[in-house]
Amino acid sequence: MKIIAILAHPDLKASRANRALCQELQRSGVLLHDLYGAYPDWKIDVEQEQKLLLEHDRIILQFPLYWYSSPPLLKKWFDDVLEYGWAYGTGGDKLKGKAFMVATTTGGSDKEYRSGGFNRYTLSELLRPIERTLTRCEAEFLPPFVTYNTTKATDAELLQDARRYAEIVRMPLELLIS
Ligand SMILES: Cc1cc2nc3c(=O)[nH]c(=O)nc-3n(C[C@H](O)[C@H](O)[C@H](O)COP(=O)(O)O)c2cc1C
Repeated sequence: MKIIAILAHPDLKASRANRALCQELQRSGVLLHDLYGAYPDWKIDVEQEQKLLLEHDRIILQFPLYWYSSPPLLKKWFDDVLEYGWAYGTGGDKLKGKAFMVATTTGGSDKEYRSGGFNRYTLSELLRPIERTLTRCEAEFLPPFVTYNTTKATDAELLQDARRYAEIVRMPLELLIS
């Protein structure tokens, strides 16, 4: 199974959580594609991005949660790359059967992301626009991997979570969706 992680972090130099996640992923041999690093001018090479998607079976979309959503370059990536006739619509079946997983990091704690909690909704609920975008393209949407509470987490806790992440991204589909 070929896995790629598409990272959207506007300020990777200042990152603790996503940097730890990336390091463990790369250590385990997963290809990391840094969108903000690749496109400082935001001019996304659509052909190249589509080629990368075609070459991989499992695609991880990794980003810090910004205002309950992804940083804006990932939204632009969806708008540019998932073209009519390629990802959806007539003849648009290139993502059919591919498995996508969101991996996100939050400042808020897990207790805040639930009904009745400070943020009212779970991450799975907040990620529905991405889920529906991908299921609209007939791709599989795997349960998200979430690292909560990043502001308070120690380096050791982030490393532990990152190791768990590197294992989870490789798990067989049956274990992830059961
Ligand atoms: C512009 C901005 C918006 C943010 N919005 C949220 C949010 O909606 N919910 C949340 O829990 N954390 C939010 N945060 C905190 C980030 O998610 C957190 O700092 C990040 O996940 C830490 O990862 P990093 O160490 O890789 O940067 C926000 C941070 C910034 C800069």
